[in-house]
Amino acid sequence: MDPAKRASVGGRSETHLEEQVKDWLRYGEDLGLSPYYRDRPPLHAIVESAAGPVESPSVATSSAVSTAAILASAPAMIAAAAPGRASGAPRNVAASASQKSPAATILPATAARSLFEVIERIEGDTLLRIREDIGDCTRCKLHKGRTKIVFGTGNPNADLMFVGEGPGRDEDLSGEPFVGRAGKLLTDMIKAMGLQREDVYIANVVKCRPPENRLPEKDEITTCSPFLMRQIDTIKPKVICTLGSCSAQTLLQTTQGISKFRGEWFDFRGAKLMPTYHPAYLLRNPGAKPEVWKDLQKVMAVLGLQPKKR
Ligand code: URA
Repeated sequence: MDPAKRASVGGRSETHLEEQVKDWLRYGEDLGLSPYYRDRPPLHAIVESAAGPVESPSVATSSAVSTAAILASAPAMIAAAAPGRASGAPRNVAASASQKSPAATILPATAARSLFEVIERIEGDTLLRIREDIGDCTRCKLHKGRTKIVFGTGNPNADLMFVGEGPGRDEDLSGEPFVGRAGKLLTDMIKAMGLQREDVYIANVVKCRPPENRLPEKDEITTCSPFLMRQIDTIKPKVICTLGSCSAQTLLQTTQGISKFRGEWFDFRGAKLMPTYHPAYLLRNPGAKPEVWKDLQKVMAVLGLQPKKR
């Protein structure tokens, strides 16, 4: 059949919309180059599975989504992806909530989840098993300079989880996250929220200290962050508060600077994610403390917490 005569959906030719859907999915690919998308099926498989039964139980829709439905939803999908969301821009909750288009509700689960949520959850996983799997890790070059692996600490059933970048000198020596100067400030922040350190869970993107406290490198993050993913899936916090750009950029798979999106809510693997500045940044820039306090107050509102009485 002449492609120009193919069915028209919403006034656009099906082929045109199909191309737009593929573009949208490619945009997802751009966001998810690493580390959590390496197990994702190739683009053509996503397009095909969206048109037929979904294989993976964790992403299964109750019924097969028809190609026509996907094509009909393409404008909403495309609107969600562009413009103003150049590659690397995370999707925030406010933005997705404001898209009330009915088409958005028929987004295939595979495509909707593909941006941030593809890595499979491990049934029956535990923190102990994750720690055992890490073992005496030599998977990346950071092991060469470390004293202790800094796995994470706190309440395994915490509603609130903080995610930092990686251990510093004090953490490397003690094996505990956030125990140095920045850690003391984090402890004060937690107390100001009406909590104790033991109430929350604290972990980092990488579990070994980068030399001279440099930023973790991409291969190190790619190697180590699946363990963080498993920790998040096991703890199932209601809120994840990322500290600094490394953890926010890693979890949200963006290259945007944190100042562009801190203080906004994001969806992340069933939790609400609040990016804020790193306490070490606050030590250098105390003027940014009110901004962080605003972010923490948003977290407190969601968790029903009252600030500590002075
Ligand atoms: N900074 C971090 O990001 N994590 C720590 O554990 C300590 C300092």
